[in-house]
Amino acid sequence: MDRSNVRAATQADTTTDIQHVFDLCADDMASVNRLIRGSLDSNVVLIRQISEYIIGSGGKRLRPMLVLLAARACGYPGQGHITVAAIIEFIHTATLLHDDVVDESDLRRGQESAHAVWGNAASVLVGDFLYSRSFQMMVKVDSMQVMEVLSNATNTIAEGEVEQLLNMHDPEVSEQSYFSVIEKKTAKLFEAACQLGAVLAGKPELEEQMAVFGRELGAAFQVADDVLDYTASAETLGKNIGDDLAEGKPTLPLILSRKHLATEHQQMIDETIRRGGVERIEQIAELIRGSGAIDESMDVARSRSQAAKRALSGLAESKWKDAMMDLASYSVSRQY
Ligand code: IPE
Ligand code: IPE
Ligand code: MG
Ligand code: MG
Ligand code: MG
Repeated sequence: MDRSNVRAATQADTTTDIQHVFDLCADDMASVNRLIRGSLDSNVVLIRQISEYIIGSGGKRLRPMLVLLAARACGYPGQGHITVAAIIEFIHTATLLHDDVVDESDLRRGQESAHAVWGNAASVLVGDFLYSRSFQMMVKVDSMQVMEVLSNATNTIAEGEVEQLLNMHDPEVSEQSYFSVIEKKTAKLFEAACQLGAVLAGKPELEEQMAVFGRELGAAFQVADDVLDYTASAETLGKNIGDDLAEGKPTLPLILSRKHLATEHQQMIDETIRRGGVERIEQIAELIRGSGAIDESMDVARSRSQAAKRALSGLAESKWKDAMMDLASYSVSRQY
């Protein structure tokens, strides 16, 4: 079955226009991208090939953009935010290489995922290369606090992924357990990105609000991602949809749908989560969409995005802060 054909969203959400945020960050992002490219050097051709393949395929670059914006919003006047932003994107890219192996996902950023082209081993190992390269870059930043925030973040991401592994094929995973996973695997890197803005600016009093902003935005972003896995089209999303269900991963839409569905439907979903597989995927996606759980999940995402915005209420007004607020809105209105 072609899972990319599962029908597109019926939601009326309009994507918040964030072109102006991209424009605001354009010069700095060009420097970040140059640094990323310049940091991929290796004598091993396969490393360059795979790294270029995934990095060149785009991506929204939201996390590095948040480093840039957070640093400026905290009054940082220097250039060290470029390096930190590149490091954050390296870490993100490494997690994507690993994630597509773990999730057996064959489409990433609109093209075949690296493991589908070069195999699992190459994908995992080049992910390790990018991870360790990010640590080499961190050492050059020469800040113990930057090291601390980033090493904690990467460790927490790994913990979240393992926690999620333990929830696989368990249809009774609680909401609490789901949130614990997404706060670790996804929100933590957003948190680090924003907190490091305050660290770079030498404003310890702003670290907590920046961290909370990043964490809440990151949680909202992952809930929206889990909704898109049921509602988007592969063409728009650049990833196959239905992957979560196919691998037996219970995410928020599925967890919430169980409350609303008739017992027989609930049992069918439970059975599919236990066994995994794609046979009933369209039928189940339809049940989940019809149950109201998509709207409920988006309500949760929107309330986390609001919480992110509230965290910045005490921060001095600036175009950088406005852009951060707009990214918080975008994280729940995005279509890809
Ligand atoms: C994908 O992140 C991984 C998740 C946390 C859902 P993005 O949606 O930011 O991926 P790219 O970098 O834009 O491709
Ligand atoms: C993102 O979760 C996890 C990481 C950031 C490692 P997903 O597994 O849902 O991300 P996508 O949907 O494949 O991008
Ligand atoms: Mg995945
Ligand atoms: Mg995953
Ligand atoms: Mg996903």
